[in-house]
Amino acid sequence: MVWINAMKTLKQSIQELKENFDAALKKILTEQDLESARITFLGRKGKLSQLMTVMKTLPVEKKRTFGPAINQIKQECEQLLHQKKDELKNASFAQEELKKTNFDVTAYKPNTIASSLHVYTQFIQNIENIFISMGYEIADGPEVETDFYNFQALNVPPDHPARDMQDTFWLDVPGMLLRTQTSGIQVREMQKKGAPLALVAPGRVYRYEATDASHDSTFTQCEGLLVDKNISMSHLLATLQTFLQKIFKKDNVQIRVRPGYFPFVEPGIEVDFSCPFCESGCSVCKKTKWIELMGAGLVHPNVLKHGGIDPNEYSGFAFGFGIERLAMIYYGITDIRLFHSNSIDFLKQF
Ligand code: PHE
Repeated sequence: MVWINAMKTLKQSIQELKENFDAALKKILTEQDLESARITFLGRKGKLSQLMTVMKTLPVEKKRTFGPAINQIKQECEQLLHQKKDELKNASFAQEELKKTNFDVTAYKPNTIASSLHVYTQFIQNIENIFISMGYEIADGPEVETDFYNFQALNVPPDHPARDMQDTFWLDVPGMLLRTQTSGIQVREMQKKGAPLALVAPGRVYRYEATDASHDSTFTQCEGLLVDKNISMSHLLATLQTFLQKIFKKDNVQIRVRPGYFPFVEPGIEVDFSCPFCESGCSVCKKTKWIELMGAGLVHPNVLKHGGIDPNEYSGFAFGFGIERLAMIYYGITDIRLFHSNSIDFLKQF
């Protein structure tokens, strides 16, 4: 009697299995779901193999009835699985194709971060635009430089003590280095273009130095050079003051000059400017009302000669300042290392 009940249940169970399988298949949207349905129904421990186990308990002649029935259901289910798999594949392929053809470039995607130029690039462009408006050209030079352009042509022969002013990254190739200053571009450009000449050259420089909040071993300088007839210190001072007034968008920025030594200028000066943020001393100017910024001077006759220009006919001025330092003052940035930090929180502010 037990097997008669088992038979009834088996018949029902086969039917139910097929119905459940069909229902499950209808709901499936992904290949992963399809795979888990396969495991549930047709897997080694799945519903179908449970029915097989029940069938094995039946007498032989009943097995003959139910065996083929179960096998048939198994084949049907497998075929339906394959069909569904193909359908899903085709659908996802069609969707990918649709994405390509219906791509809407104007579609608005909320909560995306808009990219922008790095603060450092923006600031260099500001500097360049001011000098372009004064008739200067933008120049460039190699970061891997020769001893000649970085030192000798700038009036610093081998063994000159002024070499110690800038700690140098020497390369394995003799006489080659990572430029410590953009001043080498002065001579390169004089040789290329001759006089008269007016250029600014913003560029990366390298110093073999420990880093801290105001020093980095890699930073950017802006070199300036003007060569023409009868160029004097007054041209230099007027140019620098105009530049600073334009950068800070304030007409009352003043400059102050102290003697300074740079082998490639004579006389050489250090240039400070009046604090654009206060009148009586603040944290930016360290309560002194003045901010130190750059080195400058009249181009040394030896440097003009190295550039192929006759110092009896022409004279010139040159200046150089750290771009990060000026940007730090301008934006109130307190650590120079932030420029290379790639910190999104830092960059988002500009
Ligand atoms: N190259 C100098 C420095 O790195 C700055 C400078 C440039 C000074 C041009 C005078 C003239 O310190």
